[in-house]
Amino acid sequence: MRITISDLSARKKRGEKWPMLTAYDSMISSILDQAGIPVLLVGDSAGNNFLGEENTIPVTVDELIPLARAVVRGSERALVVADFPFGSYEGGVDEAIATGIRFFKEAKVHAVKLEGGAKIVPQIHALISAGMPVMGHLGLTPQSVHALGGFKVQGRGGDGDRIKAEARALEKAGVFAIVLELVPEELAAEIAAELSIPIIGIGAGKMVDAQVLVWTDLMGLTEGAPKFAKSYLDGRKLMIAAATQWVSDVKEGDFPGPDQTFH
Ligand code: KIV
Repeated sequence: MRITISDLSARKKRGEKWPMLTAYDSMISSILDQAGIPVLLVGDSAGNNFLGEENTIPVTVDELIPLARAVVRGSERALVVADFPFGSYEGGVDEAIATGIRFFKEAKVHAVKLEGGAKIVPQIHALISAGMPVMGHLGLTPQSVHALGGFKVQGRGGDGDRIKAEARALEKAGVFAIVLELVPEELAAEIAAELSIPIIGIGAGKMVDAQVLVWTDLMGLTEGAPKFAKSYLDGRKLMIAAATQWVSDVKEGDFPGPDQTFH
């Protein structure tokens, strides 16, 4: 049985914190699913972490759909959420519905995530009315990085009231959870305490209901990972060491050995 949005709501009521990780392929999806990660996000961060782009802005729906389908196939238990990439919903309700239908039919995801506040409430209403659960995303919204003037902390001073108002608008519109990225811990704590839906922090301190990280940051694969990320494995170093050892074994004639050879 897959985790549902009702399970996540129940966790908030019980005060039980939960983790979410990104995933972009079936192998990682199966590993994270086996590790008990309840929610997998096919983030548009696939742009910089999987597709070799500078940021998330160039990512398209056509690029994300096969990744989302792979993440759904690789997992048995996780709720899989797909990001709406830049340019796939801002145009209005019809565009958002068309994008949502593609993700649900072609990738078979269980929910979608949209960046933005009050101005995309019509799209959120339409998606939810059509049966597609929506996760919100406020604070540092990477698709708007140029308008925000860079990757910097949002919601300091008076701007905190604006983010709170946006969060209330999203909850009223019916989103089942909100990602809050790169905001002061105090602001995130106030929003998590006020709203009845789960608040998922990234660079938002620990006084929230859930945490999300990019899987390549968690595993130490990313060069120059953001300050808010913590790596739990020296993955890049270990993989380079393994590949270097294999190169050496091939050159020295030590690979294949007897165990990898047929007669
Ligand atoms: O695309 C992504 O990885 C995200 C997370 C940072 C929340 O939106």
